[in-house]
Amino acid sequence: MTKSPASRDLLRNRPAAPVVAPSILAADFADLAADCRSALDAGGQLLHIDVMDGHFVPNLSLGPAICEKLREALPEVCFDVHLMITDPADYIEPFAKAGADHITFHCEVLSVDGAKSLAERTRSLGCTAGIAINPETPFELVEPLLGTFEMLLVMSVHPGFGGQSFISEVLNKTSRARAEGPEGLILEMDGGVAPATAEACREAGCDILVAGSALFGKNHLERASVVNKMLG
Ligand code: DX5
Ligand code: ZN
Repeated sequence: MTKSPASRDLLRNRPAAPVVAPSILAADFADLAADCRSALDAGGQLLHIDVMDGHFVPNLSLGPAICEKLREALPEVCFDVHLMITDPADYIEPFAKAGADHITFHCEVLSVDGAKSLAERTRSLGCTAGIAINPETPFELVEPLLGTFEMLLVMSVHPGFGGQSFISEVLNKTSRARAEGPEGLILEMDGGVAPATAEACREAGCDILVAGSALFGKNHLERASVVNKMLG
């Protein structure tokens, strides 16, 4: 599988310092590529692409066709695809072909062995793999998977919608993963992350701060200021 340029490899290794990932869920869908480009120009370093199936979560968002068009428009950007879907096995390949660099799926819909084999399949398609955990899911469910995945995504809202309040109780999952997981494990916090909540995320060991509503719907200077505040 041919892939270029190197900036798309951002999630191959744990970033040296935390970075902000704009979540396209809050972008202007009528002008998606341009709005994503603005969020990246304001300091976002990769694009978080939320995929919802109306089953695992009570909402629908987008499919591989939109990812593919975004890839054409943003050829150098690392695409971090978050599958909030019941059957991730059916969609790994379509999203890999549509230009994903990294694909995260949820531990709630897979057995430990199923998650491990899906991680291998994801890598065989040229992407890195992440495992996500919902706020109400016990940490013990992902514990046996920490050595298998490049990334653990900790949901800090109930998945399905942007603009919700940060659930601070999940911070102990990130702290535990940082303490117990491999040194190179990338930790991503997703949901309600904003200047007011980002510091606690960074202190709990987060590398990737996903930001939807905190970042979009603002002018360039406001967005740049949000990114700077989130990174401390
Ligand atoms: C929620 C999604 C998030 C969402 C975050 O289900 O996984 O990525 O876009 O949006 P905010 O930052 O508005 O909470
Ligand atoms: Zn997400």
